[in-house]
Amino acid sequence: MIEFEGLVKKFGDRTVLKGISLTIAEGEIVFILGTSGTGKSVLLKTLVGLLRADAGLIRIDGEDVTHLSEEDYLPVRRRCGMVFQHPALFDSLTVLENVAYGLMKHERLTLEEATQRARECLNMVGLLADSPDLAFEQKLPTQISYGMQKRVSLARTIAVGPKVLLFDEPTTGLDPVTTKQINFLIRDLSRTLKTTAIVVSHDMDCALEIADRIVVLDQGQIVEQGSVREILDSTVPLVVDFLEEAKARGVET
Ligand SMILES: Nc1ncnc2c1ncn2[C@@H]1O[C@H](COP(=O)(O)OP(=O)(O)OP(=O)(O)O)[C@@H](O)[C@H]1O
Ligand SMILES: [Mg+2]
Repeated sequence: MIEFEGLVKKFGDRTVLKGISLTIAEGEIVFILGTSGTGKSVLLKTLVGLLRADAGLIRIDGEDVTHLSEEDYLPVRRRCGMVFQHPALFDSLTVLENVAYGLMKHERLTLEEATQRARECLNMVGLLADSPDLAFEQKLPTQISYGMQKRVSLARTIAVGPKVLLFDEPTTGLDPVTTKQINFLIRDLSRTLKTTAIVVSHDMDCALEIADRIVVLDQGQIVEQGSVREILDSTVPLVVDFLEEAKARGVET
């Protein structure tokens, strides 16, 4: 379980998060929606301790992590697998090595164990099974599509066995077909691995498709939250705008 209680984050005299209180249950898939610059990424970064709160509390599985030292935050960060917007793979390592690297470095697996685990994870994100090309795992990131790079990055994150998966705009910049695939992958992986997933997005379509709960942020505050059904019935202007925009793109609401 993840709990935010009155979370405040400031940059200089600018308050970006203005008292966020939110509880996310184990195994839940929660979408955090909001327009650009509203504090979504800051919220994720504060959760994993890359930014520190100015007030309020963050608890993970009952443990108050708000004021942990940098060193004590490391195991917390490992429990929370962050999938960044850009895949950020090592260009000089193959697909397989990219996934195996962290397993050897941080989990102290042998080359053989790490290779086997990396293959399992590449399979889980549908890469080896989908690819007719047996040499796929030996390719370099520059030799595969952007959508595939995203999958490799996801495989790398799940390889170390996080309890929570955090996605910052996982489908931005992808075509509609790949977007759908990545969405369902997020949902299926979260269910299979029994992880909690927090997905930051400004894409209502994705949220309606896979979220258990949708939380809408506006200028650093939660203005609405609920199940897909409840969000569809929302009268909050920003939510209505998001829904209208999704409808205009032909999404069934
Ligand atoms: N390290 C930082 N230092 C100063 N200001 C920051 C920092 N990080 C974020 N901000 C500011 O905080 C606000 C919220 O940023 P954030 O990145 O969380 O937005 P966002 O909701 O993720 O937007 P987007 O959808 O564009 O990614 C922005 O105005 C941004 O300029
Ligand atoms: Mg962002």
